[in-house]
Amino acid sequence: MNDVSVNSASIKAQVESVHANLLEDLPDIGRVAVAVYDGRTDTLKTFVHSTRGATPFNHYEAKLAEVPSLAELAETRGERIIGDLHASGNALGRHDRQLLESGYSSSYTKPFFDRGELSGFMFFDSEKGNYFSEAVVRHLTIYSHLISLLIINALASANVLRSAVDVARAISHLRDEETGAHLDRMSRYARMITRTLADQEGLDDEFVEFVFLFAPLHDVGKIAIPDRILLKAGRLTPAEFEIMKTHVAKGVAIVDKMAKSFSIGDSAHIEVLHNIVRYHHESYDGSGYLTGRKGKDIPLEARIVSVADVFDALTTKRPYKEAWSNDDAFRFIDNLTGKKFDPDCVGALLSNRRQIEAIQRQFRYAKGQFEGFHEAYLDDL
Ligand SMILES: [Fe+2]
Ligand SMILES: [Fe+2]
Repeated sequence: MNDVSVNSASIKAQVESVHANLLEDLPDIGRVAVAVYDGRTDTLKTFVHSTRGATPFNHYEAKLAEVPSLAELAETRGERIIGDLHASGNALGRHDRQLLESGYSSSYTKPFFDRGELSGFMFFDSEKGNYFSEAVVRHLTIYSHLISLLIINALASANVLRSAVDVARAISHLRDEETGAHLDRMSRYARMITRTLADQEGLDDEFVEFVFLFAPLHDVGKIAIPDRILLKAGRLTPAEFEIMKTHVAKGVAIVDKMAKSFSIGDSAHIEVLHNIVRYHHESYDGSGYLTGRKGKDIPLEARIVSVADVFDALTTKRPYKEAWSNDDAFRFIDNLTGKKFDPDCVGALLSNRRQIEAIQRQFRYAKGQFEGFHEAYLDDL
């Protein structure tokens, strides 16, 4: 078996390498795919795949509860073999029908777990009917184990970073601004925008997921801003605002240092985190900070996070303002298209009204808890 080095390549490249290996022994497995599970929202999301032919699912998500066949596998920790998708005909669920239409005839599905919790599902699909004999399934055991380790390891690196930041935040009493509900919502808006742009921008699901995982760290540098400025009730003076702006450079220093100390700095996705922190206050017309980059020179993940972050700030209640309606916030953001915001990202936000409302319903902020972005930030718009 070739050496599969962890963390040096994208997860997709690693899964492709495992797939290439597997094809030497089992040449008729045309597709290997992984979906990851978010237990908080009961959501299953396509994550990586290595596919020889047409790809049946991309940028796709569903509630696990709405896919009973998979929910049952998770519950029983079993595995599922569909010997002949053609023969199953009308009994097929929506997903399996899509698989059939993409040219696959049989499939093998297995859930995987991290410390007892469901992490996701692995799918092996073949163009041949009845391909998954007992011998083939036995042969796949080692591969499915390897793939689950790759995925769990990659997601763990991201989560280690996030927990380190949570701890730092708790210690430094970072106030309301970065509380859970704001981060829950803005990271989901960011994922929604990324997924909407995925086809057009040629983004894979792995990128979508890492934007989601790292978006909440955009303001990590505020840990290093003194309370008298961070917690100031009124408007910041120009001098204070200059200090506030240093949260970007401080954030970059923090994440780069953390990435190094957790020795995950060489993983492909750490770049996404770095870019979100470094460029989230850039403006599309070049009038932002820290670097004054403009247009598409600003990394896409930062352009996305900027829209998601501001939209949530506008639509939530702050010490100095009521929550704006979605319509008002849409209008406000639309007016800044091409000035502060990337037109594509704004378009993706505006086209997802129903999903935005669903996110808002699910992640309401606790009563009496303000989730401001600082008033000075409004000046900065
Ligand atoms: Fe910020
Ligand atoms: Fe924020």
